[in-house]
Amino acid sequence: MKKMFLKLVLLCLCLWRLDGVSGEAELVMEGDSVSLNSGLTEMKDDDVIQWRFGDENTVIAEINVTAGRITVYDDVLDGRFRDRLKLDNQTGSLTITNTTTEHAGDYILQINRKIKRFFLNVFDEVKSVSVKEGDSVSLNSDLTEMKDDDVIQWRFGDENTLIAEINKRADRITVYDDVLDGRFRDRLKLDNQTGSLTITNTTTEHDGDYKLLVFTGFFSSKSFRVSVYEIYLKYVQIFEIGPINIFHT
Ligand SMILES: *[C@@H]1O[C@H](CO)[C@@H](O)[C@H](O)[C@H]1NC(C)=O
Ligand SMILES: *[C@@H]1O[C@H](CO)[C@@H](O)[C@H](O)[C@H]1NC(C)=O
Ligand SMILES: *[C@@H]1O[C@H](CO)[C@@H](O)[C@H](O)[C@H]1NC(C)=O
Ligand SMILES: *[C@@H]1O[C@H](CO)[C@@H](O)[C@H](O)[C@H]1NC(C)=O
Ligand SMILES: *[C@@H]1O[C@H](CO)[C@@H](O)[C@H](O)[C@H]1NC(C)=O
Repeated sequence: MKKMFLKLVLLCLCLWRLDGVSGEAELVMEGDSVSLNSGLTEMKDDDVIQWRFGDENTVIAEINVTAGRITVYDDVLDGRFRDRLKLDNQTGSLTITNTTTEHAGDYILQINRKIKRFFLNVFDEVKSVSVKEGDSVSLNSDLTEMKDDDVIQWRFGDENTLIAEINKRADRITVYDDVLDGRFRDRLKLDNQTGSLTITNTTTEHDGDYKLLVFTGFFSSKSFRVSVYEIYLKYVQIFEIGPINIFHT
C-alpha cells in the first residue's frame, strides 16, 4: 500500500518537473509533523530569514538576527498554522506539526537574497466507504469548485488505472470507462463542478482502492477504500408433508 503511494508520488513529482517547476518535495501523512530544512547549520549576525506560504506568498515566520527577533505569524490564513509552527532559532528550519491537507502547497524560504522552494504534499488518511451491491457510491473530492487550470484524476486499483479526468487547462472532461474489461462502463458520473465521482449500480468488481489526484498549482491526493458487499437471498423452502399418524401402532 505504502509502496503504491510512493510510486504514484514519484509519477507526480515527474509531472511537476515537466511543468518546469523545481524545488524540494516533502511528503507527509495527515496528522504527522514535517520539517523543512533550511540547510543552514547556524545563522550569521546579519541574516534575515523569512518563510512564506502559498499563492499569496503569505509570510508565516521570520528571523531577524540583527534585531534578535524571532516571529511566527500563525494567525494568518484563517489560523491554519495556529500552534503548529516551530522555528528552529539556530538553523531557521521550520517544522509544521499535526499537518492537514490545508498545509499542502508551496513554501518559500528566503535567506537574505537566496530563495529555496519546497512543495509539501499531505496525504489524507484512507477513507473507508461501504456500499450494498447494486447501489451507488459517491466519492467526495471535498473541492467546492475547480479553478481554470486545475487537473484532477481518479485512479483505481493496484495498477492505479486512470478512470476519469477533468482537465480545466484543456477544457476536457474524460471518463475512461472501457478500461479494466469495461467494469465501469456506463457506471461513472463525474461532477464537473467539484470533481466528485459517483459509481452507480456497483458490483463486487468495483471493490478496491480509489485515488483522487488533484493538481492545483501544487499536488494533493485523497484515497478511498470502497467495499461492496453482496446481498444474500435466503430461500425458504416449504415442504408439504402429508398427514402424520402419530398414533402409529
Ligand atoms: C532587521 O532588523 C534590523 C534592526 O532592527 C532592521 O534595521 C532591518 O531593517 C530588519 N530587516 C528586515 C528585513 O526586516
Ligand atoms: C533558542 O531556542 C531554545 C529552545 O527553544 C531556547 O532555549 C533558546 O533560549 C533560544 N535562543 C534564542 C537566541 O532565542
Ligand atoms: C490536530 O489537528 C486536529 C484538527 O485538524 C485537532 O482536532 C487535533 O486535536 C490536533 N491534534 C493535536 C495532537 O494537536
Ligand atoms: C456540467 O454538467 C452539467 C449537468 O450535467 C451541464 O449542464 C453543464 O453543461 C456541464 N458543464 C461543463 C462545463 O461541462
Ligand atoms: C446493474 O448491473 C447488472 C450487471 O451487473 C445489470 O444486469 C443490471 O441491468 C444493472 N442495472 C441497472 C439499473 O443498470
